[in-house]
Amino acid sequence: MARLPFVAGNWKMNKTVGEAVELVKQLKASLSGVEGVEVAIAPPFTALDAVGREIEGSAIRLAAQTLFWEEKGAFTGEISPLMLNDLGCRYVIIGHSERRQLFGETDETVNKRMKTALNHGLLPIFCIGETLKEREDGKTFSVIERQLEGGLKGFGGKEIQKVVVAYEPVWAIGTGKTATPQQAEEVHRYIREKLERLYTREIAGEIRIQYGGSVTPENVKGLMNQDNIDGALVGGASLKSETFSRIVRFKEM
Ligand code: PGA
Repeated sequence: MARLPFVAGNWKMNKTVGEAVELVKQLKASLSGVEGVEVAIAPPFTALDAVGREIEGSAIRLAAQTLFWEEKGAFTGEISPLMLNDLGCRYVIIGHSERRQLFGETDETVNKRMKTALNHGLLPIFCIGETLKEREDGKTFSVIERQLEGGLKGFGGKEIQKVVVAYEPVWAIGTGKTATPQQAEEVHRYIREKLERLYTREIAGEIRIQYGGSVTPENVKGLMNQDNIDGALVGGASLKSETFSRIVRFKEM
């Protein structure tokens, strides 16, 4: 079965409610009629409700940027899977490198979040990727392997089919330095082969692997032409409807 390309916009800590609604209105207009690609947007928590209402009935899916692994209780500042379901989220980004680097997430806490998301019917966008130092030290594949094994611990074939993997080399995020299509494909292929070893060839063949890190309308096509690149996780370029919709419409370029 061919994998449906999947483009997701990660708005990070940007946009007030008013700005978010404005952007999503523009996106709805510029993306209407697009076919053969799935689209999701991940606004900040404060705008999920308003954006969710705005995209009701459209093909755009709602995503959250993270979640906590408990359902409720004394966890000041955290957001639970029940709250995300309540707002109509379909996807949740888990283990983004900014969460790992700035907020102390580890493979173990990423795994807990993944489990909770899946138990509540939320589809994880599971982020992995090496830092510049790790790449320069020749550790790219071992880091990716560790992150995959750690994040997916305890998951069988049934669960993994609901997961989207996002390969985001940390040195390419927000830096303007995209991995070349060949550099990205090399790691995507490695990820798929690792998934084959962890599960089966058939299951690994169905899992979508997005690339993320300075994706733009200019470089998206070259990336998407690679055999194992099935979509993009877009940060900076998702903050404007013009650039994001050009990325989503990569097939038309
Ligand atoms: P960027 O961010 O597109 O701004 O590099 C990507 C991401 O962090 O998901």
